[in-house]
Amino acid sequence: MKKTLIVGNWKMNLSVGQSSLLVARLQQHIAVHRDIEIVLAPSMLALQPLAQEIDRRKFRLAAQNAYPKDEGTYTGEVSFAMLQDIVHYVLIGHSERRREFNESLEFIRDKMAACVHNGITPILCVGETATEYKAGETKQVLHDQVVTALSNLTAEEVTDIVIAYEPVWAIGVGDPAKPAQIEAATTHIRHQVKDLYGRAAAESLRIIYGASVEPDFVHGILSIKGVEGLLPGSASLNYHKFSGIVEAAHRFTKQKS
Ligand code: PGA
Repeated sequence: MKKTLIVGNWKMNLSVGQSSLLVARLQQHIAVHRDIEIVLAPSMLALQPLAQEIDRRKFRLAAQNAYPKDEGTYTGEVSFAMLQDIVHYVLIGHSERRREFNESLEFIRDKMAACVHNGITPILCVGETATEYKAGETKQVLHDQVVTALSNLTAEEVTDIVIAYEPVWAIGVGDPAKPAQIEAATTHIRHQVKDLYGRAAAESLRIIYGASVEPDFVHGILSIKGVEGLLPGSASLNYHKFSGIVEAAHRFTKQKS
């Protein structure tokens, strides 16, 4: 049985002090659950102190980004190699990075390879924009994003990765995509992986959903076949909401087993 994966993306929020405070609150409110894996993605600056502070039975850490070269003349960047001892995961290809920092499909492919080769599990974020959605291009966009991102990985490496389906038009609006849309997109992603890397890889990698995840939506989203976790953004900054998401996921998983 795979654990349900809950990843809180704090984005560019919270000072180091505020991050410690949020972790302290989360540790008080969230129990140890064997069926749930909880990952926190704070700012780069907060990762090191939080690595000392988190209760490792409850939480793991993710970076929100990293640079694909291991070291060198890349002023301002932090490499996957540098993060190796601190994080289990790195978010790669978040739509905000694709949009604000013009990250190309090929750059994201290079990050995926660097991440895996440094022993870190990538959480590849994919999803169509509102314009692409309206133009009926969702499947094509997901195909291009997934196929390019994974193209330098072996089937064995793909087995362990996480893909987050995040429809860009549903991020930060308080209203997630409809179950039928999420199911169509995530099924399509798994089919792409199966075509390229085989059934074992497709069944073993984890596919999660992000965009406007709130505690009330958890049961509905996790009920969708093939969705194995959640990636809340703004709700993960509020300890009531984030612990509510974890508790709802735990209730759902317990009831299912
Ligand atoms: P949101 O963000 O939960 O605030 O919609 C999700 C994300 O961008 O990862």
